[in-house]
Amino acid sequence: MRISYILNRLHHFVATLRLPMYRIRHNTFGKDNFITEHVLLHGCHFGNYNYVGNYSILNNVIVGNYNSIAPHCIIGGEEHAYWDYSMSDRLSKLNINSRKTTIGHDVWIGAGSFIRQGVTIGNGAVVGAHSVVLKDVPPYTIVVGSPANIIKKRFPENMINILQNDNYYNMSQVEAKKYLQDFQCKYPIQSHEGR
Ligand SMILES: CC(C)(COP(=O)(O)OP(=O)(O)OC[C@H]1O[C@@H](n2cnc3c(N)ncnc32)[C@H](O)[C@@H]1OP(=O)(O)O)[C@@H](O)C(=O)NCCC(=O)NCCS
Repeated sequence: MRISYILNRLHHFVATLRLPMYRIRHNTFGKDNFITEHVLLHGCHFGNYNYVGNYSILNNVIVGNYNSIAPHCIIGGEEHAYWDYSMSDRLSKLNINSRKTTIGHDVWIGAGSFIRQGVTIGNGAVVGAHSVVLKDVPPYTIVVGSPANIIKKRFPENMINILQNDNYYNMSQVEAKKYLQDFQCKYPIQSHEGR
């Protein structure tokens, strides 16, 4: 009993030590990503200028550029094989952790959201706080709820096409800011109703 307790504590201790290495070893990062405290990342590829809030967990995710991921989000991650006789990792070999989840560019993911593995979130999309996203989200579309449904588009279709074609997401911060200033001069922002 005592030996198993000590082994158990030792296992926990080693697991704790491995966490930061896990973060470094199994992910790739572009430049200037701001990953805050207590974030767990595994098998992720980050582009540039992304933000990830506290306590978020991303597993097997491709993240583009200029994304804002709020705290307490879970993106990707294993699916347990409920059709097998056991769903425990220790007893079943069928659990699935192979489908990549993709976050485009300049996406905002609200606090506490869950995004299922394999889903693609389009450029400029918004995921409302505490949403459960089970299907792909088209570019510049706002989804909310559980399961997440579309409530509106951010801009008219012609504007969405221009933004995507001009691909400011792949510009440096200075260039992208200049591009967006010019864009705003051509197409002034409509004020948000009631704000
Ligand atoms: C998604 C969001 C951006 C929408 O903002 P908005 O355009 O001002 O939306 P509105 O308040 O006009 O709401 C539109 C409808 O969607 C619903 N809705 C909005 N956000 C929702 C959410 N997160 N979950 C469920 N429903 C939501 C509203 O109840 C409303 O429904 P109704 O038309 O039936 O009344 C905002 O609600 C949100 O979730 N922001 C995330 C904030 C956050 O997580 N911050 C963390 C730090 S970055």
